[in-house]
Amino acid sequence: MADAVLGGSAEEVFAKELAEAGLRYEVDGEIATITLDRPEKRNAQTFATWSALARIGDNLPEQVRIVVLTGEGPSFSAGIDLRMFTPEGVPGQGSFSSAAQLENASFEDTVEQAQQGFLWLRRPEIVSIAAVHGHAIGAGFQLALACDLRIVADDVKFCMKEPALGLVPDLTGTKPLVDLVGTAKAIDICLTARVVEAQEAYRLGLAEQVVARGELARAVREKAEALLAVNRDAATATKRLLRGARERTLEEQCAAERVEQARRVAALFG
Ligand code: ACO
Repeated sequence: MADAVLGGSAEEVFAKELAEAGLRYEVDGEIATITLDRPEKRNAQTFATWSALARIGDNLPEQVRIVVLTGEGPSFSAGIDLRMFTPEGVPGQGSFSSAAQLENASFEDTVEQAQQGFLWLRRPEIVSIAAVHGHAIGAGFQLALACDLRIVADDVKFCMKEPALGLVPDLTGTKPLVDLVGTAKAIDICLTARVVEAQEAYRLGLAEQVVARGELARAVREKAEALLAVNRDAATATKRLLRGARERTLEEQCAAERVEQARRVAALFG
């Protein structure tokens, strides 16, 4: 049975926000599952989606160790809701053309807010898993990239479409993409806006595992169980080390290992 997340009227406000954003959210013990739930529109994302994601991150119960991102229906996500590119925009949320009227700094603030929906998925205290099937286009691809791990169905189709639409990927996806596949492949994938299917995604390191579509939920559950079997504090400390490794020199990384291990040893044997 899913645990309650927020109490009283705050819960009602949150539930309304989630429904408007086309999201479902369930916490079951140490596992939180976020489902993109607008299948009739291929789980297209809006400003409301991103602010609801950020709110989930802000209110994540402390016991949660695994966050699973998944999509309802035939696609993980067809990316940004294309109505945001029309003058009318998404009712109640404006559009790119209204945002473009803002001074530059304000537009950047708007994007920074949207990015908050993605960034928390990298926190050391959790492992985030994107369970990706069907199309993961633009913002959908970037949401999968925001997660620590990607387990994909054999029908997956990743596509970074933004440059083909005259835009750049700006929902935190460029760094994980380069970290995973290298600069040259990232240039190839983004600047051609081509589709990357399952076997290539696996070969490039974009996916940790490829499974048959019907096996996706089970594969994610098994991965979650394996992750939960490891000591929580050691997992958090190790993820902190691994996430920071690229930015540190070897000497800095060795020093960081010593600091983390001293903490672990004090906790275990002190
Ligand atoms: N925004 C809003 N509505 C969408 C989106 C979207 N991104 N994608 C699909 N829909 C809607 C369609 O308009 C259609 O609605 P309707 O039934 O009211 O006509 C419904 O979802 C189903 O779409 P189909 O195209 O019929 O579904 P199909 O399975 O054949 O194709 C696909 C799926 C390939 C994802 C296709 O819908 C598509 O190319 N969508 C647009 C992708 C895109 O360009 N996204 C923006 C990327 S850039 C970024 O994210 C920043």
